[in-house]
This record gives sequence, structure tokens and C-alpha cells, in this order.
Amino acid sequence: MQDQAGKVILVFGGAGGIGAEASARLASGGARVVIADLHAAQARAKAVGIVAEGGQAIGVACDIANPELCECAAQAAVDRFGRLDGVVNCAGISKPHDSISLPPADWARMVDVQLNGAFYVAQACAKRMWAAGGAIVFITSINAEAAFPRRAAYCSAKAGVAMLTKVLAIEWAEKRIRVNAVGPAYVATEMTERNIAAGNINEAQIKARIPLGRLAQPGDVADAVSFLLSEQASFITGHSLYVDGGWLAYGYF
Ligand SMILES: NC(=O)c1ccc[n+]([C@@H]2O[C@H](COP(=O)([O-])OP(=O)(O)OC[C@H]3O[C@@H](n4cnc5c(N)ncnc54)[C@H](O)[C@@H]3O)[C@@H](O)[C@H]2O)c1
Repeated sequence: MQDQAGKVILVFGGAGGIGAEASARLASGGARVVIADLHAAQARAKAVGIVAEGGQAIGVACDIANPELCECAAQAAVDRFGRLDGVVNCAGISKPHDSISLPPADWARMVDVQLNGAFYVAQACAKRMWAAGGAIVFITSINAEAAFPRRAAYCSAKAGVAMLTKVLAIEWAEKRIRVNAVGPAYVATEMTERNIAAGNINEAQIKARIPLGRLAQPGDVADAVSFLLSEQASFITGHSLYVDGGWLAYGYF
């Protein structure tokens, strides 16, 4: 785990599988962490867990689809810890549905959370990193590149975030704000468990499709996030790093 000593890092969706693991690892690397999540009680509970381990963390409520609430979360980090150095956006939803009958409201909510929310998070946080610089990491997906059926809104939104990563990176480089994305294949989290339980995916088929032969663990994703937030990635911006066990490389039968 990279040294994050003294940094203040805001993790949106930090109560979930990937976000909680990233929060814990960043805290163990010395970061002061603000966990922002739709589920406020779970965000606070994750923060209590980090404090119990000797770290520094608080939990706050936030719906990233609401730009004012993103502003509140970013300000909470500054109010509590005095600055903001890094942001990870792990907040997300997954709801596969046939495109032909997808309710427009479901399309809109997916785009609101996955794409609009990413922009609101980045804008709110960049305002507070404008003077001193910082780093932003979006969690995208292999679906930013690879089309899956019944995921029209999800895939479109994730591809949008991959492009947003590039636009913000070049626009904010002069402010020394780096912007990158981490795109996992299937990760062993509650989101994946829900999709298996709903019959949207088959675990054995997924493992067979991944050259490294297993699902990602949240720690695999958290390690990539931590690297991109660290000084070791100081010349990396506008990049999507796929943590996919070789999924996107595979083009055989
Ligand atoms: N799990 C996977 O296989 C996988 C694969 C590729 C990409 N991803 C992406 O990684 C991210 C994290 O996924 P996860 O597996 O940890 O999911 P998860 O369901 O375990 O956690 C998601 C978290 O986001 C929070 N959240 C949802 N909507 C929110 C909103 N509007 N505002 C604030 N918080 C909100 C939830 O409360 C939850 O704590 C998502 O963007 C997801 O699309 C996941």
C-alpha cells in the first residue's frame, strides 16, 4: 500500500464493497478519510471501524446525483480535516434490464448516478483542490470498453466517465489536479452477489471468461486506486487502468 500520510481523501460510495476496502487501505496508509455514501449509517459505521483500528475517519451522507450534496460532502472534508488532497468515486448502482422495455426513469437514474454524479463529485472536489492540486480517481468498469447486453445505461454511463476522465485531466492539469479511472471486471462485492442471486450473471461462466481465472477482490481494485492517488503516479493523468484479470485483452473463442 502506498504512503498516503497526512492526506485528506474523500471516498464516495465508501460504505460499499470497493469503497470500504479503499477507505480502510487508504487510512492504513496514513490518510485521513471521509466516507460519503447514500447509506449514512453504514458510512459512519465504516468510519468508526477505521478509528477503532487507530486511523482517522468520519462518515457523511451523500447522494452523488445531487450536486448540492456533493458540495456538502467536499466541504465536510475541509471543515473536519482542513484540506482535500484526493477523491475516489466508488458510488454506483447496477440494474440490468432489457433495453426494449427499460423504463426511462431507470435509464435516467443510472445516468444520474454513474455519469452525472461523477461530474458533480469531481467539480465539488476540484474547487477545494484548486490552489494546492490533488488527485481524482473514478471507478469505471470494463463496460467502459466492452458492451454487455441488458446494460445499455450502465455501459453508456461508464464509457462517458472514461471520456470525462480524459477531459478533466487535460483541463485541470495546469492546476496539478490529476484525474484517472480504475475499471474492474467482476469484483466479489455485494453488487456482484446481488447480480448472481438475480440470475443476471453466472459465477462459473465469469471465472471461465477471465484469463486469470477468478473474480477480482476489492483489495485488487483498492491497490490500483491507492497507486493512482500516490506520488508514484505523479505523471499519470487521463488514464483508465483496467483491473480485469485479462478480460479486455481476451479475444479468442
Ligand atoms: N462489483 C463489481 O463487479 C464491479 C465491477 C465493475 C465496476 N464496478 C463499479 O464499482 C463501483 C463500486 O461497486 P461495488 O461493487 O463496491 O458496489 P456496492 O453495491 O458494494 O457499493 C456501492 C456503494 O455505492 C453507494 N451508492 C449507491 N448509489 C449512491 C449514490 N447515489 N450516492 C452515494 N452513494 C451511492 C451504495 O450505498 C454502496 O455503499 C460502482 O461504480 C460499480 O459500478 C463494480
